Amino acid sequence: MSKLLFVNASQIVTCAGPARARHGSEMAEAEVLSGDVAVAVADGRIVAVGPTASTAAAVPGASEVDCGGRILTPGLIDSHTHALFGRPRFEEQELRATGVPYMEIARRGGGIHASVRDLRGRSDDELVELTLPRLQRLASYGATTVEVKSGYGLTVHDELRSLDVIRRLQALTPLRLVPTWLGAHEIPLEYRETAVARADYVRLLTEEMLPAVVSQGVARFADIFCETGVFTIEESRHLLSAAAAAGLGLKLHADELETSGGAELAAELGAASADHLAAISPEGVRQLAASDTVATLLPGTMFFLGRTRQAPARELIAAGAAVALATDFNPGTSPTVNLPLVLTLGVSQLHMSVAEVMTAVTVNAAAALGLVSRTGQLAPGFSADLALFDAADVRELPYWYGDRLCHATWARGQPCHRP
Ligand code: NIG
Ligand code: FE
Repeated sequence: MSKLLFVNASQIVTCAGPARARHGSEMAEAEVLSGDVAVAVADGRIVAVGPTASTAAAVPGASEVDCGGRILTPGLIDSHTHALFGRPRFEEQELRATGVPYMEIARRGGGIHASVRDLRGRSDDELVELTLPRLQRLASYGATTVEVKSGYGLTVHDELRSLDVIRRLQALTPLRLVPTWLGAHEIPLEYRETAVARADYVRLLTEEMLPAVVSQGVARFADIFCETGVFTIEESRHLLSAAAAAGLGLKLHADELETSGGAELAAELGAASADHLAAISPEGVRQLAASDTVATLLPGTMFFLGRTRQAPARELIAAGAAVALATDFNPGTSPTVNLPLVLTLGVSQLHMSVAEVMTAVTVNAAAALGLVSRTGQLAPGFSADLALFDAADVRELPYWYGDRLCHATWARGQPCHRP
């Protein structure tokens, strides 16, 4: 039995509490312990947290991990990434800066379409080789759980292949990966010509791709880009209802660039999360707040797109919603692996408190992935997912913006990122 005792931390951010999403004012209650405190781990699980003497007694003979006066937190959870892609798309950043909007680049066959062309031309081995170092970089900033979406294949073959690559990656990294099927990321160019062809793609998604994904058991969630110019509310309702009936959890890219009612649809369908929400309506805020759907905000995307409008985090929290934060790591709109930078944006752009942003990348991000009773807290019974940061105070995490303070991480008690 492998036993670890983490001692000598300046603070232990436990986020301990009920194993459910924290709503509204509960988000400000992220527990921080200081003084002579420790965390005991046995067989990949946390068995005790508290005063060092009594915690040590829970794991006799454990190997000590000297935290060296750093802060110990739950391993961070990045609940929204598109980490599986081929080449980066740096040419689009300058195009947007000089006046060509994101959706116009897509209309010209760039954007997601460019990544689709690229991925279809690559072998599985190449995709594994490209993605593994990106996952290691996400881990090097403190993540121990990462959701990874498909969505750059858009054929039955290439979407299954993408999800299978994610499955292969799971065997190569100690990170916990959560696979999401995003076959509805775009209407592929070959189906874009006529309304009839478009309906054919929705049929392909619902009647062929979804059953294939479910029978292979390669995805935990289904997601869709519900947005003006991409999938409509009706198409989203149709596909996601079928996905729920087939046993997948639901996620939506909702109200990202224009208001379309995606947040309301997420609440109606009982989705695990509604993501983006920069253009959410007041009614969407009310409906999400009254639901169990986590509002996952991705401020790095709006920042990188050069948009001034951010999701209304304060309104969401005031209304009682559960807010999570994630990187949206992808080659088009958010090429960052730095989840702590998203904490900075959460505080400085979304006006959240430090406790709220910590809750947003731990407990609430776990809830967005259906893992709230397994990870996101340093408390007995939870997976031993921990991150150690070169800081003496939790407020330094969002403060030293862009820096990489992460010293080491453990996922399920195994070293994940090493110093
Ligand atoms: O979350 N909005 C759709 N999907 C991604 C962008 C993907 C891309 O541009 O490649 C997003 O922003
Ligand atoms: Fe996204």
